[in-house]
Formats: sequence, C-alpha cells, structure tokens
Amino acid sequence: MSIDLSDKTILLTGGLGAIAEFILKALDKAGATLVITDRIAEAEARKMLAQWGVRADYFELDVTDPVAVTRVTDAAFAKHPGINVALGHAGGTGVFPFETCTQENFDAIVKFNFTAQTYLARAVLAQWRERECAGHLIFTSSFVSQIPMEGISAYVASKAALEMFARNLALEYAKHQIRVNCVSPGNVAAGSSKLIYDNDPVYRAWVDRVSPLGKRNSPESIANAFLYLCSHLADEVDGFTLRVDAGAGLPKLG
Ligand SMILES: NC(=O)c1ccc[n+]([C@@H]2O[C@H](COP(=O)([O-])OP(=O)(O)OC[C@H]3O[C@@H](n4cnc5c(N)ncnc54)[C@H](O)[C@@H]3O)[C@@H](O)[C@H]2O)c1
Repeated sequence: MSIDLSDKTILLTGGLGAIAEFILKALDKAGATLVITDRIAEAEARKMLAQWGVRADYFELDVTDPVAVTRVTDAAFAKHPGINVALGHAGGTGVFPFETCTQENFDAIVKFNFTAQTYLARAVLAQWRERECAGHLIFTSSFVSQIPMEGISAYVASKAALEMFARNLALEYAKHQIRVNCVSPGNVAAGSSKLIYDNDPVYRAWVDRVSPLGKRNSPESIANAFLYLCSHLADEVDGFTLRVDAGAGLPKLG
C-alpha cells in the first residue's frame, strides 16, 4: 500500500540523526514537503541531505535554546505557512548511573529529552492557533518510558514525562483540531546503538535477550510508524503512543 503525504508539510527537529535519515527518506518518497532542523551547521546539513537524496529546506536549531526554538519555528512557518505536522524527534542519552551522575548532567538530559519538547510545542502550537488551522504534533519517545533500565534514569523519566505531556496536550488542543501523539521505538539498528551492538558483546547479548521477537527494530520499522501517523490513515488517532519496539517494552517475569 502506498501512502500519499503530498498535502503534508512536516517540520522535524534532530533531523540529521541515525533514525531520522530513514524517516526523512520515507516521508520524502511519500511526497511530503520537509522542513528539517538540527544543530548541525547549514552547509554540512545540506551536504548530508543531498547525499541521502532527500529534498528539504533546512534551519540550524539547538532545541535546548527556547529563544532559538521560537525564532526558528516562526521563520520556518513564515517561509512554509502550510506546516501541518511537527515532529519533536531530537533526543538521546549516554549511560550515567544515578549515583555518579551529576545534577548538572541529569538536568541536561531532562532538558534535551523533555523540556526542549515543551519549547517546540509552545512555538508550534502558537503558530497553529494564530493561523486557526489544524495540526499534528508527534514526539519521539522510547520503549524505556515504560520500563526501568539501569544507568539512564534521567532519560527514562524524561520520555515517560513526554508521553504524559503529549496526552495532556492532546486533551487541551483537541477542540482546535490539533492532535498530539508519540512514536516509541525499541532498540534500533542504526547510529550509535548499532555501533555499540556491533562492537560490545555484553550489550549485544542484553539486546537480544530483551527483544521477544528475537530482533532489534530496523530503522525502516520506525520510519513506517511515522509514515502511518503522518498520513490520513491516522486522522482520528490522538493522545496515543505507538510503540514499535519488537516487544522490548513488554514486562517479563524471571
Ligand atoms: N537509537 C535508538 O535505538 C533509539 C531508541 C528509542 C528511542 N530513540 C529516540 O529516537 C530519537 C533519535 O535517536 P537517534 O539514535 O537516531 O539519534 P542520533 O543520536 O543518531 O541523532 C540525534 C540528532 O540530534 C541532533 N542533536 C543533538 N543535540 C541537539 C540539540 N541540542 N538540538 C538539536 N539537535 C540536536 C544531532 O546532531 C543528531 O543529528 C531520539 O529522540 C531518541 O531518544 C532512539
């Protein structure tokens, strides 16, 4: 089945990351107009997008800077007034056991994975409200929002908060025909996760053990979730987290 996104203009943060490459390729192929942001400088970014064969406009943006988020969002809407989907995709963490994680480091992870998404939401929702148009905000969460995991308490808590934030915004904005959802990936075979998996036998054994389907997520499976949620097939999906994690987030006894 082919999905047609030719009436979608999609703004995306963290758009030059490992999973984003696959999302962009899928959305572009489906005919969406793409407006990408990332903290990578514009010249380098445009080179990457050209290498990926993705047609997109680009704005440099550090999502943890609330002033920049508003400025860039406003500039993106001024140039692309038809933006009707926004993907808060930037996020990530390293491994920092709570006992040795400084408060500064903890705060930075929360800011990147949760607070920055509220900056994006504020800026995008203001645009849609001012223009009195419908919109769809989609955040990228993680399967660990629902299960504890050693060494990443700030990240886990941030993603859990993000999912509940999305549900609350969905409730508050439904009367304006603005929807808010999340995609929640599992262990994805892309980027740094793939690198660690390929080189660290302990991590590899753990990932294989916690994936009931016996495999990690392909980045294409995550891109497919975005294709679906961005499309008219999902027009009545609101306040939902679509977990695409090969079962990794299922509670297991023993
Ligand atoms: N990789 C996984 O296995 C996995 C699993 C579950 C959820 N996720 C989530 O998926 C999303 C993407 O993950 P990924 O592994 O592809 O990421 P990645 O590390 O490959 O890419 C992150 C991107 O964000 C950009 N970035 C970093 N700091 C930024 C900032 N302050 N402002 C703007 N951009 C910034 C980087 O330049 C990079 O392009 C994240 O939200 C992550 O939490 C990933």
